[in-house]
Amino acid sequence: MDKVVCDGYTLCYADQGEGEAVVLLHGFCGSSAYWEPLVPLLSGSLRCIVPDLRGHGSSDAPLGAYSIEQMADDVLKLLDELNVEKATMLGHSMGGYVTLSFAQRYASRLNGFGLIHSTGYADDEAGKEKRLKAVSTIQTEGMTAFIDGLIPGLFAPGTAKSRPELIQKAKEIGYLTPPQGAAGAALAMRERPDRRDVISASALPVLLVAGEHDGIAPPEKVFSSDRPNITKATIKGAGHMSMMETPEELAGIVRSFLKES
Ligand code: MLT
Repeated sequence: MDKVVCDGYTLCYADQGEGEAVVLLHGFCGSSAYWEPLVPLLSGSLRCIVPDLRGHGSSDAPLGAYSIEQMADDVLKLLDELNVEKATMLGHSMGGYVTLSFAQRYASRLNGFGLIHSTGYADDEAGKEKRLKAVSTIQTEGMTAFIDGLIPGLFAPGTAKSRPELIQKAKEIGYLTPPQGAAGAALAMRERPDRRDVISASALPVLLVAGEHDGIAPPEKVFSSDRPNITKATIKGAGHMSMMETPEELAGIVRSFLKES
């Protein structure tokens, strides 16, 4: 992987293909590896820039709470370093929160943006409490136990039986998350504001993708705006992880969004 220094910390990224730039941002306790099944389906005609967000994968994981804004600023620095003036940004779940922060402040750097199994809603009180529980589990039980508890629920029901290798792969990616990175990112998600207005007020083309069986970001939370110029798609059979569960369907949706926008 290539590297840039952002805010004093190393950010690792993959840069594959040529053409219009598409930035793919992974979710919590994921990494650029989440997108591996999708990138070959896009990189024939697109430049896929795929970072490990701060605290994840091979990137540095500073101690302490992060913010979603910091993570978006890391991505801005990456685009600056790569001399990419404009890109389409697609964020999976936590990566979607980062995408919304980026779109709110740096819209002139985007051709469009999309949320893949993500939402503009902030955490409610129960959600905020769960973040603190997550940090405590990470600290007291360690990453392996935390990831083993987290990952199966990201996939559509029945995946453990029908395609256990997908769950195993996502766990292996998750185990590589440094504990301070996971804790820092959980606290960042806890503090993020409601950004539904970024979706409803943006003049940019927006893509919203939901998974039929997503228990984390169900379709009604993904599709928070009715404004025109939003492309909405629900992937049948997918849970929260369509880039691994149904990469062909997701690639088709992304390609037609880019063609139309
Ligand atoms: C993710 O996959 O990034 C998480 O499910 C997001 C969240 O917990 O809000």
